[in-house]
Amino acid sequence: MRFTSRLLALLGGGTAAVHALSGRPSGLLRPSERRELLQDVVTFDNDSLIINGERLFIYSGEFHPFRLPVPSLWLDVFQKIKALGLNTVSFYLHWGLLEGKSGDFHAEGPLAFEPFIQAAQEAGIYLIARPGPYINAEATGGGFPGWLQRIEGKLRTNATDFLDATNNYMANVGAVIAKYQITNGGPIILVQVENEYTEAVSGVVFPNGYYMQYIEDQLHEAGIIVPLVNNDAGPEGNNAPGTGIGEVDIYRAIAYNRYSDSYPLGFDCANPATWPSGSIPTAFRQDHLKDSPDTPYLINEFQAGSFDPPGGVGFEKCADLLNMEFERVFYKNNYAAGVTLFSLYMIFGGTNWGNIGHPGGYTSYDYGAAIKENRAVDREKYSELKLEANFLKVSPGYLTAVAATNYTVGVYNTNSDIVTTPVLGSNGSFFVVRHADYTSEASSNYTLNLPTSAGDISIPQLGGSLTLNGRDSKVHVTDYPVGSSKLLYSTAEIFTWQTVANETVLVVYGGPNELHELAVVGSATGSIVEGDGITFQSQNGSTVAQWTTSTTRRIVQIGGLYIYILDRNSAYNYWAPELGSGAIIVNGPYLVRNASVDGSTLSLSADFNKTTTIEVIGVPSGVTSLQVNGQTLNASANAQGSWTASIAYSPPTLDVPDLSTATWYTIDSLPEITAAYDDSLWPNANHTNTSNPIGSPLKTPVSLYGSDYGFNTGSLLFRGHFTASDATASTLYLSTQGGEAYAASVWLNDTLIGSWAGNSVAASYNQNLTLPALTADAAYVFTILIDNMGLDENYDVGADEAKDPRGILDYTFASDITWKITGNFGGEDYADRLRGPLNEGALFIERQGYHQPDPPLSAFTTGTSPFEGLSAAGVAYYVTNFTLALPSDEWDIPLSLVFTNSSSSTVAATAPYRSLIYVNGYQFGRYTSNVGPQTEFPIPEGVLNYNGENWLGVTLWALDSDGASVPALNWTIGATPAWTGREPVTAVEQPAWTERVGAY
Ligand SMILES: *[C@@H]1O[C@H](CO)[C@@H](O)[C@H](O)[C@H]1NC(C)=O
Repeated sequence: MRFTSRLLALLGGGTAAVHALSGRPSGLLRPSERRELLQDVVTFDNDSLIINGERLFIYSGEFHPFRLPVPSLWLDVFQKIKALGLNTVSFYLHWGLLEGKSGDFHAEGPLAFEPFIQAAQEAGIYLIARPGPYINAEATGGGFPGWLQRIEGKLRTNATDFLDATNNYMANVGAVIAKYQITNGGPIILVQVENEYTEAVSGVVFPNGYYMQYIEDQLHEAGIIVPLVNNDAGPEGNNAPGTGIGEVDIYRAIAYNRYSDSYPLGFDCANPATWPSGSIPTAFRQDHLKDSPDTPYLINEFQAGSFDPPGGVGFEKCADLLNMEFERVFYKNNYAAGVTLFSLYMIFGGTNWGNIGHPGGYTSYDYGAAIKENRAVDREKYSELKLEANFLKVSPGYLTAVAATNYTVGVYNTNSDIVTTPVLGSNGSFFVVRHADYTSEASSNYTLNLPTSAGDISIPQLGGSLTLNGRDSKVHVTDYPVGSSKLLYSTAEIFTWQTVANETVLVVYGGPNELHELAVVGSATGSIVEGDGITFQSQNGSTVAQWTTSTTRRIVQIGGLYIYILDRNSAYNYWAPELGSGAIIVNGPYLVRNASVDGSTLSLSADFNKTTTIEVIGVPSGVTSLQVNGQTLNASANAQGSWTASIAYSPPTLDVPDLSTATWYTIDSLPEITAAYDDSLWPNANHTNTSNPIGSPLKTPVSLYGSDYGFNTGSLLFRGHFTASDATASTLYLSTQGGEAYAASVWLNDTLIGSWAGNSVAASYNQNLTLPALTADAAYVFTILIDNMGLDENYDVGADEAKDPRGILDYTFASDITWKITGNFGGEDYADRLRGPLNEGALFIERQGYHQPDPPLSAFTTGTSPFEGLSAAGVAYYVTNFTLALPSDEWDIPLSLVFTNSSSSTVAATAPYRSLIYVNGYQFGRYTSNVGPQTEFPIPEGVLNYNGENWLGVTLWALDSDGASVPALNWTIGATPAWTGREPVTAVEQPAWTERVGAY
């Protein structure tokens, strides 16, 4: 079989873990067995992934290196993911950012991704690599480089020119991924082929296994031997094992109810308290068994936030829609379906800096994720996720338990408003309870009737009833091993358990004032160690404890088991960092990154955003001192032998510059409209045909598409020279395209003849522009500025939407026009190698490189600021420099730039304008005053120098003839500063301005 022979051809590479399955026809091998021909480090069966012989719940979150261009901050995010109890991160790579010119792969500085992989490894995180070549990802072109607009063949098919175009990128990223596979000691355990290869327009052969196979062959040829997975965005079974050419090793079989992929609550953040009905997946298990019964149940992307479009409501509302209640009800519904490889999209969203976003979004890619764009972890959904992930981490019995194919009413519980899905195992069983109407906000009482090793038991045994409060879901366990003890059942949910310092500590929690009960198998008597209000009784060969949840902690001892009984909000303060092969439990800090023992010292790396009493439960034997972030604490042992210590929160005074009083230097960034301007160095727009099949045939005498001239990113500028044929030619019909929320302005010589200020939906716009009276036979020039909000994604195969041109689609005018065009200086031979191919657009100051640090201020004037602005349509650039001296080695201080409008609305009441924000040469914001919604732009440390000089540049494109000004813009501290255990941040390289030879 072609697959196996190709794999066998790879075996010459000296893979240590090769198993020869001699004599067996390869066609009879299951996918897992075929893969084991190459390596036995990552294997799987229909239950779970097995790594180095150990079954693991792969709990993953998505995090993109290209959305945080500060490599020294990657470890910080990985540690925050690890602290949740997650063990894996899934990441895309962006082809267009790494190969801005065909054949020129460049992945260095902020674009490097090897340090991302190394940081994951340092944090103890596995990786799922998703290099595309197509990623979607709300990224420009869906990850495709703009030069693919000049490819004749259909994208994402086996068209030869498209396949050829992928070779260089795939060989380069494939080699790095191969190098860091777990089989070579690296963290990469799985590699995803393509992404969301699920839908096509009619008339295209789909799915085309030859295309998928081509990508798989590229990965194999690069030396990748770990299992290949896909991400089918619907239960189509595309490329599932057994489908023949192009099949993957592990299929991602996901049912969708409302939306493709698995984004059940959708993307309408406007009404975050409203859960649409009919959205909870109920067929996940059946679909998985239909599509891919021999592989473990993988969900490569499950909703963990939402994107938000231009003119949207902002990501805080998305975080509200996809909040802790959503996590409880919907994530637990997935556990009920037996998922064992589960990845959340996104766990950290980051920023669409430097034009990497698509037109359907804006600069922030916060996504309403558990970790905010400014890296703060103060959303409640972060804490809820920590409870769930830690539970699965200590529940190996779940991995081999068998999920029911559907929920039941009336079998395991009494109240028909509540449904229960059993996941039955020999090493613990799991009963997932939710409201039948999952949108219900009712409080419903119920009792359970659960099968246990002591027979069917009606719970609670000691009287009373359980309660499900509104949008909640619970996992009740039976016959659940906890160290050398066993829970016959627990209605309280488990955060973690650890055998620490020779005793087993179990931490359980419940919602406010809920009745809970658990039973420990055996005859040991129960006693209260801390607190009161616990009832004990012997029943069915076990010791039963019952209580009502309170904000006061209780600790009980039953035999060798110490049970910490918490309410959910208190449980949020607990952490279970790994410690060698064991763990400790830490109560108190805002964040616990990791723990280690060196000799007699226990060291914690942790963050604090308020005065905190820290409690260490299960201090390892032999340890006599406690350090936090390198400081030795005065710890004392409490009655349980746990250590407590107090940490005072006293942030230093943090000085950030006041932009309202700053000295600004300004320069005209639209000199093109002045009479003296000379555009002789500009590229001629003279292609009489286009290479872009989507924009073909041309409606204009020459192509006026950016990509035909290598301009794929940022704004476009056109110069149209003509000689007036007569004095009556008074209208220019103009059709422009720049993607949703784009804008365009047109000048005749120095006079604005019209702007399209944009709205949230129009990707293109047709205008009839009335010209002033012309003088016959006189020479004129149009200057046309068109914003490009990024290239469209390419979701439906065959539509080739990533080729939708940017620029002028059509025009009508009485005189012949001779055109010139520019985008970023150099086009695909981009000027700023370090910041990459997408960071700059066509504006004069961008072409000259004045957005970089230390521009030639002799060319600037002082005395006007963005707050004074422009009194006529045009583009100005304002720059200021300032020094920061912030104590960033010990303090994590997220800074943001905030535009304040003159009205309380997010949309300016003042004349419309657009601003680009440049911080030390990195474009870190695209502000649209009249579309929004983003007004706060987080700027990460490392792009900002927290100890040194900084350059902030702001463009002002005034769209109205009366000009515009920025009402207010200033720095703000975007989260409570934390005394931090993170590694010091190294600023990313910030090349300063140097004269650009040939710049115009
Ligand atoms: C390309 O795909 C088509 C199906 O669309 C298939 O018939 C053809 O053989 C493939 N060509 C190659 C070279 O793989």
